[in-house]
Amino acid sequence: MSNALKEYLTICQSRVEQALEDRLPPAHILPRKLHQAMRYSTLDGGKRMRPMLTYCTGNVLGIAPEALDGVACAVEFIHVYSLIHDDLPAMDDDDLRRGKATCHKQFDEATAILTGDALQALAFEVLAHDASINASPEARLKMITTLAKASGSQGMVGGQAIDLESVGTKLSLPELENMHIHKTGALIRASVMMATLAKPDLDPAIASKLDHYAKCIGLSFQVKDDILDEESDTATLGKTQGKDKDNDKPTYPALLGLAGAKQKAQELHENALESLSVFGAEADLLRDLSLYIIQRDH
Ligand code: IPE
Ligand code: IPE
Ligand code: MG
Ligand code: MG
Ligand code: MG
Repeated sequence: MSNALKEYLTICQSRVEQALEDRLPPAHILPRKLHQAMRYSTLDGGKRMRPMLTYCTGNVLGIAPEALDGVACAVEFIHVYSLIHDDLPAMDDDDLRRGKATCHKQFDEATAILTGDALQALAFEVLAHDASINASPEARLKMITTLAKASGSQGMVGGQAIDLESVGTKLSLPELENMHIHKTGALIRASVMMATLAKPDLDPAIASKLDHYAKCIGLSFQVKDDILDEESDTATLGKTQGKDKDNDKPTYPALLGLAGAKQKAQELHENALESLSVFGAEADLLRDLSLYIIQRDH
C-alpha cells in the first residue's frame, strides 16, 4: 500500500469509527441486547473500504469529509447488515467475522436477524435526516434511491439470492460475474456514486468515469475475496478460510483457477485505472485503492 493511502486510510478509519459511534443507539437504551449487537457488529472492525471510497471520491471532487460522514455511515451500516445475515446458518453459516464471533454466535439467531434489519433501517434514516449531508432535497432523494437500489433485489440482496441458488451448481463466467456484480459490486458502486451526488452540477461525463471505475473495483473486490478464501488463512482473514469450497460455492478460482482469477483481478484493476485517465493527481488515492483491493491480504 502506498504511504499516501496508508495515511489517508488511518485518518478515514478513525473518522468513520467516530461517525458510526455517534449514529448508533447507545447500548444502555432499550432494547439493550439489540443495541449491544448493533454496536458489537459495527464498531471496531473491518477495513471500512466502502466509507473510504466515499471519502476518496469526495476528495477527487473537492467535497469535504465532514459533508460525507452520513453517506459513509449509511453504506457501512448496509454492509454490516449484509455480513450479519450472510453469516447466518441459513446462508453461509460462519462462526467468525472480523476476528470475533459472528453476531448469531455472540448473541443468538433471532437477534442477528433483527440486528441486520435495524442496521438497514438506520442506514436510510441517516441518509434521509443526517445533518452532515448538506445536499439539496433532490440530491438527498437520489442518494436514498441509489442506496436502496444497490441494496435490494436488483442489487446486493439479489446477488445473495443468486449465490444461494447457485450452491453446488457450475455457473458460466457471465453468470458468475453477474452474481458478483450484484452481491458485492452494487454496494461498492453506490459508495462512489453517492459521493458524486453530493457535488451539485457535476459534469455527467465525470460521474460516468467514476461510475465505471466503481464497477471495475466492485467486481475485483469480490474476485479477490474469492482468491483470499482459497489461499489466505483464518487468522489473517478474521473469517474462516476455505468456506467457499466447504459450501460448494461458485467462485472465480473454482471456475478459472487461482492464476486465472488473479489475471482477472489484474485486468479489472487496469480497466479501473483507464477510467481515471481523465483525472490528474487528485485521483491518486482512488488509483492506490484499486491496487490495494487486488493486493490486500485480508
Ligand atoms: C466482505 O467484505 C464481504 C464481501 C462483500 C466480499 P469486506 O472484505 O469489505 O469486509 P470487512 O468490512 O473488511 O470486514
Ligand atoms: C458476501 O460474499 C457478500 C455479501 C453481500 C455479504 P461472501 O459470502 O463471499 O463474503 P464473506 O467471504 O463471507 O465475507
Ligand atoms: Mg456469502
Ligand atoms: Mg460469506
Ligand atoms: Mg467470501
